Amino acid sequence: MGWFVTFEGPEGSGKSTQIGLLRQALAERGVSACFTREPGGTPIGEQIRALLHDERNSAMVPEAEILLYSASRAQHVAEVIRPALARGMLVVSDRFSEATLAYQGYGRGLDLDVLERITRFATGGLQPDLVIYLDLDVEVGLARKRADTQGEWNRMDQQSLDFYRRVRAGYLRLAQQRADHWLLVDAALPIPAIHATIVNEIMALLDGAAGGAIRTDGNPTPGTT
Ligand code: TMP
Repeated sequence: MGWFVTFEGPEGSGKSTQIGLLRQALAERGVSACFTREPGGTPIGEQIRALLHDERNSAMVPEAEILLYSASRAQHVAEVIRPALARGMLVVSDRFSEATLAYQGYGRGLDLDVLERITRFATGGLQPDLVIYLDLDVEVGLARKRADTQGEWNRMDQQSLDFYRRVRAGYLRLAQQRADHWLLVDAALPIPAIHATIVNEIMALLDGAAGGAIRTDGNPTPGTT
């Protein structure tokens, strides 16, 4: 089995920048990795992504939204993630199930137990070995996102400030509940410092040194699983 790492964070947290830098750093170290994303990651998933992100679909109800994200995820797990893990690869996904709990659960207010059941059905119970969460003040993130002319602007970017605050609070709660699998990074730190923390953590994971216990300062606590 390989390793499954996911990136999460509120809007404007710098996920794409960090994923790009990580891709480069792994290539320089000769580590072959499968980089993918949600929603999307497969031809079917990318069509679902277009539906989910289309700003004309403002009438979409939260129940349809969660089922579409989950449909994309089921396809992604079966077609890309599990086969790559079975080949012993490192898989890095830009978002996964934690985004459903944060956005549809804490953000939209859907029942968390129902979401967990749907998610288990979609993933067959697959969970990341490591969730890298880039945490940032919501207003700072939204301002960064607005200033980024290259970035994508989609249906999920039309929500209220309160929605994004609930999403961030949700992520922080999940990070607390699952601290042994989360690396919580302050996304207000300089880009190179964040990058170094992420690379160290991933190399420790690949070396088997992370031991499952990851403190919020990014240093693995060896020997505890
Ligand atoms: P991103 O490309 O900026 O990550 O955009 C994906 C958007 O989709 C982002 O606003 C988070 C949202 N999302 C959910 O609401 N639920 C999910 O399960 C996933 C994967 C993403």
